[in-house]
Amino acid sequence: MTDSDPTPDRPPRRPRYRGTHPRSFGEKYKEHQPDRYADDVAKILAGGKTPAGSHRSIMVAEILTMLALKAGDLVVDCTLGYGGHAAQILSLIQPTGRLLGLDVDPIELPKTEQRLLEQGTLPQCLTVRRSNFAGLARVVAEVFPDGVDAILADLGVSSMQLDDPARGFTFKSDAPLDMRMNPQHGQAAATLLSKIDEAKLSAVLTENADEPYAGRLARAIVQAQKHQPIKTTSALVDVVRSALDKTNCSADQIAITIRRVFQALRIAVNDEFGALDALLNQIPSCLRTGGRVAILTFHSGEDRRVKQAFKAGLQDGIYATISEEVMRPGAEEQRSNPRSTSAKLRFATRR
Ligand SMILES: C[S@@+](CC[C@H](N)C(=O)[O-])C[C@H]1O[C@@H](n2cnc3c(N)ncnc32)[C@H](O)[C@@H]1O
Repeated sequence: MTDSDPTPDRPPRRPRYRGTHPRSFGEKYKEHQPDRYADDVAKILAGGKTPAGSHRSIMVAEILTMLALKAGDLVVDCTLGYGGHAAQILSLIQPTGRLLGLDVDPIELPKTEQRLLEQGTLPQCLTVRRSNFAGLARVVAEVFPDGVDAILADLGVSSMQLDDPARGFTFKSDAPLDMRMNPQHGQAAATLLSKIDEAKLSAVLTENADEPYAGRLARAIVQAQKHQPIKTTSALVDVVRSALDKTNCSADQIAITIRRVFQALRIAVNDEFGALDALLNQIPSCLRTGGRVAILTFHSGEDRRVKQAFKAGLQDGIYATISEEVMRPGAEEQRSNPRSTSAKLRFATRR
């Protein structure tokens, strides 16, 4: 604190908000401080919601069973996120094991590293790299030249990214249409929309979200873009709504369509399928004999790729075993964490 601070001993004021409850992401100051407001955060969790600024890890018990970790194991978490899976992995492999945590997000990654260390992670057991998992083999060769015992990838975006309006992922608040997991890299969704033609956009909507109204929506978005560039999340929502005006879509169907359009654009902006294909190609060269990989996916385009890569690996003798059936979260997890409902888990073991 500097001498020029006029109120050195006064605690910071809580953010002001209208009404009796904070509504926006930034106003939810208690949720952003789970250590200080544990009871309030527990009530939010009990209500099936994700506290602002955090993420609820999915299928943790199933993943730990599949990875069969023990003290001393070397592990890569390709999608560190909030560090929920990582914390559980570390509790099983410390003090002799090591975890390499990757993530592309330069905003959340330092916070997660600090959180894990404050929770008691031994510094020598954790290596964190801001890296796309499309470059897995290169990072693993640097950190663990003899390969690893287990790899986890929990695909998509975290709740911290999704819920923070400033990141432009959510259709629930108005914000610049960005959607980059790494805002320092690549082009924002608004830029992508300003360049894409109707046929390409229609393909993006179909391939990335199985959107049944892909053609109609692509036409409407490209036309609207000609009149006025679509620069915000609300502007995109308005275009989708008016494109569905003359259909028989119910309010629920319109909401689902908006969700699918945002998903499709997010996948394109972050080249999520390209990164997943690269990851699936490189996993076998990073795993030691007997090493395990578990991948959690959230929509059919991802699951199809994982299923096909594992199946081909089994046929080619690269994997000794793969999950015969996809695993889904149990009924209780789906009820208590609605964001888990679309999750699918698959695993493979290196020969
Ligand atoms: C669903 S969250 C992971 C949550 C984490 N398992 C936990 O328990 O907190 C997905 C994370 O993966 C990151 N991510 C997505 N694609 C990535 C990629 N290609 N390379 C590295 N990180 C990626 C996102 O930035 C996000 O933080």
